[in-house]
Formats: sequence, C-alpha cells, structure tokens
Amino acid sequence: MANSKNLTCIFTIILTLLFSFAAAKSSTFYRNLSPVSLGFKKEKLSHLHFFFHDILSSPNPTAVRVVEPHTTNSSFGLITMADDPLTVGPEPGSKVVGKAQGIYGSAAQEEIGFLMIMNLVFTEGKFNGSTLSLLGRNAVLSTVREMPIVGGSGAFRFARGYAQAKTHTLDFKTGDAVVEYNVYVFHY
Ligand SMILES: *[C@@H]1O[C@H](CO)[C@@H](O)[C@H](O)[C@H]1NC(C)=O
Ligand SMILES: *[C@@H]1O[C@H](CO)[C@@H](O)[C@H](O)[C@H]1NC(C)=O
Repeated sequence: MANSKNLTCIFTIILTLLFSFAAAKSSTFYRNLSPVSLGFKKEKLSHLHFFFHDILSSPNPTAVRVVEPHTTNSSFGLITMADDPLTVGPEPGSKVVGKAQGIYGSAAQEEIGFLMIMNLVFTEGKFNGSTLSLLGRNAVLSTVREMPIVGGSGAFRFARGYAQAKTHTLDFKTGDAVVEYNVYVFHY
C-alpha cells in the first residue's frame, strides 16, 4: 500500500518535470529546419540582362537630387534618389521589365565614385514581384563596374551574386545615362 502511494508520488513528480521541460522547450524562439521543408531544394544560377535608364533632365526625370552639399565645388556628397526603369533594350521606349529603386551618393573625393544602394524590382515574367538588393561601389567612368548583390525576395530569397554595369550612353551636360547591366545570381 505504502509502496504504491510512493510510486504514484514519484510518477507525479516525473510527469510534472516532463511537462515543465516541454513548456521550457516551447518557449524557445528558434529551431533547426531542413531547407527542403521551406521549399529550398536546389540552388540555381540566373543571368539577367537589362538596361538601366537614369534620367535627370526634364520633363520626365526618373532620378532627383535630394542632397546637394554646399562645402565643396566637386560632386562629392551629392545624393540622388532614383526610380529608374529597367528595360530589355537600350532605347527609351523599350519594354520595361522592372525598376531600380534606391539611392546613389557620390562617395569619392578624387574621382566620380558612387555608393549604390538599390532594390531591383522586377515586374515581368517569372521574376515578377521579386527583388534583388544591390549594394556596391560604382566608379561610373570605368568601363565595367562590378557591384555585389547582397540578397533578394520572392524568387530571389537567399540570393547572392554580382552585377556588372557598363555605360551605354552618357550625356555629360544633363547627367542622363543608359547603363547596360548583366546580373549573375545564385538563388533557389
Ligand atoms: C568654389 O568655387 C568658387 C568659384 O570658383 C570659389 O570662389 C570658392 O572658393 C570655391 N569653394 C570651395 C569650397 O572650393
Ligand atoms: C505582375 O504581378 C502583378 C501583381 O501580382 C500583376 O498585377 C501583374 O499583372 C503581373 N505582371 C505580369 C506581366 O505578369
């Protein structure tokens, strides 16, 4: 009799301990996951090719200066906000496949070197609604500039890669430019 009471008591203690362990476990805020359980099966490499239209001149600018420093006579410190069309071809009327939305700032004192912080937002084809985030240095007078792709959304979750930019046309008077982009990204 006494033994069975003791057993019940021990059993209750064990159960209580188990439940408190379970409660402690459910209060953690992280867990391990297999990539496949979120649909990430096989990494792919994609190549995107488009033209970037950065138009500062009227009547329809796609980029506006938002910071103009007073302290120097060079372009150092200038910051521009852009919502630039990305098109299949270099012509202004070419089919739009997305936008480059972000800022670029003149970050070099001895040359023209921009800090580019851009989201490439795609609006056509299988990448419609997906974005790539670009963060890098753009020495615009160099023939080819390479900038890292640091992430993405939608079809581009876990994206990493690089963009190569090559000036197609540049109007030194207005600053208007059409730039050819080749983007190479790993994503799922
Ligand atoms: C900018 O240029 C003007 C006219 O050439 C000159 O008077 C001024 O000192 C310059 N300012 C600076 C900060 O270099
Ligand atoms: C892209 O996606 C948007 C939002 O889902 C949709 O309205 C639009 O029609 C799509 N465009 C193309 C070309 O599929």
